[in-house]
Amino acid sequence: MNPRIIPEDIIQRIRERADIVEIVSAHLRVDKAGQNFKGLCPFHSEKTPSFTVSPSRQMFHCFGCGTGGDIFSFIMKINGESFTSAVRQVADRVGIHVPSVSDHPGGDKIARRRETLIQLNEDVANFFETSLWHDSLGKRGMEYLNTRAIQEETIRTFRLGFARPSWDALAKAMHAKGWTDNDLVDAGVAISRNAQDGAQRTGVYDRFRDRIIFPIFDLQNRVIAFGGRVLDKTQPKYLNSPETLLFHKSQQLYAMEKARTEATRHNALMVVEGYFDVIALHQAGIQNVVATLGTALTSSHLPLIQRFSKNLKLVFDPDTAGIRAALRTAAVEMLDLFAGRGISVDVVTLPDQRDPDTVVREEGTAAFDQLVKGAETLIDFVIRHNLSQATDQSIEAHVESLDTILAIIAKTSDSYQSLYLKQIAERLGIDEHALRMQHRAASVKTNKPAKRIRRIAEPPPSPQSGQVEEMLLQLVIQGKVNPEWLGDLQASEFLNRDYQTLFSWARAMPENEHLTHTQHFVSFGERNPEYESLISRLALRPLEFEEHTIERAVRECVSRIKARNLDNQFSERTRQIRIAEREGCSTKDMHTQLEALRQEKSAYAQ
Ligand code: GTP
Ligand code: MN
Repeated sequence: MNPRIIPEDIIQRIRERADIVEIVSAHLRVDKAGQNFKGLCPFHSEKTPSFTVSPSRQMFHCFGCGTGGDIFSFIMKINGESFTSAVRQVADRVGIHVPSVSDHPGGDKIARRRETLIQLNEDVANFFETSLWHDSLGKRGMEYLNTRAIQEETIRTFRLGFARPSWDALAKAMHAKGWTDNDLVDAGVAISRNAQDGAQRTGVYDRFRDRIIFPIFDLQNRVIAFGGRVLDKTQPKYLNSPETLLFHKSQQLYAMEKARTEATRHNALMVVEGYFDVIALHQAGIQNVVATLGTALTSSHLPLIQRFSKNLKLVFDPDTAGIRAALRTAAVEMLDLFAGRGISVDVVTLPDQRDPDTVVREEGTAAFDQLVKGAETLIDFVIRHNLSQATDQSIEAHVESLDTILAIIAKTSDSYQSLYLKQIAERLGIDEHALRMQHRAASVKTNKPAKRIRRIAEPPPSPQSGQVEEMLLQLVIQGKVNPEWLGDLQASEFLNRDYQTLFSWARAMPENEHLTHTQHFVSFGERNPEYESLISRLALRPLEFEEHTIERAVRECVSRIKARNLDNQFSERTRQIRIAEREGCSTKDMHTQLEALRQEKSAYAQ
């Protein structure tokens, strides 16, 4: 757990002054629904609103995907920020001064360094922009962008820039602003000379020279890295910032900050391969588009993707043999990781070996949209692709393709498996029964039987006792419970571990606390994010009781939990007695205990 840098009382004051509805409204539309507000969840795709915001509790919860928490966690989740920076953001809004991190010697050094590098990156981005627009050398950059049909407005939106053909233009300009070599190297915009050729020379040189510059932003529109393209045929064609404190390219998607709104609105996120493809499509009005940064799309992109859409549309560049080969393994991984989390993956195929940039420029937006509509599922795509090889090629290639297909089919759900097997058998004109046999052999190799066995061995859930515990905890979290009604109920008497934790937290609350119970749970959730969803769900779930029946409900829940536990103890004792009797031991004491349990139990029977 992170040590709190900002004092608790200040956090509390910020919380009291801020309004979660106002903050949420800046990101999505919410409408009044009874005491709460509702809207379409920004954390998963949905058509009917299950995202609920409670002004009275200052919490949110999505009853669709389970994301929930308070005002700070909303900002953390929607912008991918740290707790501290979320608190600061709200503090700014409500006009509360938060002592700066540097006032705290024990403060988060890395967070501070990140802030610094973000400021530097902003200066760097401005410098590149100025070079493009106002520098005589920048004319070449502007002319190049013209030849790529990029309009001025688009250049501004993406904050494209130009790095002069110079070894130190950037470094000099940044030195003049007070940045050190060390800062420049840490931000990845300069390279240390020492590192290159011994200790002879000192200082740094510019990483990006004579290139069109694409700043890369985080979800809060802060510059975290740069990409650069040459104007001619020089290699490497593209250059990206190295990994820094701010930039992890395998987790990042170019233009996500611009695509997020449309991705949520269209319930689909399109992933292309190149910077120019993104820019051309956005310019053409297709704005739910991002690009990977020269890497394949993998599971490390999942956290980012998951927040905005559960429907991915991949647009691959015109194929080389290498990409095709990669698609086989990539497809298996994607099916494993994406499909497993309910993310659908479709593939858009573009005609005539052209890339998205060219197609949208030559054919127009409507035609491109039409191609997207014709997307096929990743599985269909891979099967079709491998099938066409299977029919064209030698027996060996045929068998190999079929194996790939079977391995992929094994990743799909049972009902799809039969469907695909049938299709393939038809396509290849082979016996469906034979194919099934081969498929079964393939699945034994790839599937995990352990999982199946474990599932059977799990104890059946006992929804009833679970529901009673949950109902009680809901009433506690909503601040409806007078501690007297709980009697001597202990946290250990809950069966559910999470409920145990939350109940012991409730029990530990100081008397005559000025906070309401709910707020107490909110701050517990902040420190223990794994409980946030549960807390917000129980805090915002509508009560099924009228106020005057709550006391009776609470007492009944307590009785039922007690009675259930006594029941369990009773059967356990009985079992032990049976064993003891079988072994010829004395069971007198045990019978006495059993009788005591029986009496205690009768006290809870109504
Ligand atoms: P144009 O050729 O200008 O249309 O570029 P593009 O954006 O269509 O890129 P391309 O299809 O050539 O490559 C796709 C993406 O792969 C680029 O946007 C880069 O992110 C990355 N990439 C391409 N070439 C290189 C390279 O030489 N080095 C690195 N690091 N990345 C590259
Ligand atoms: Mn291209």
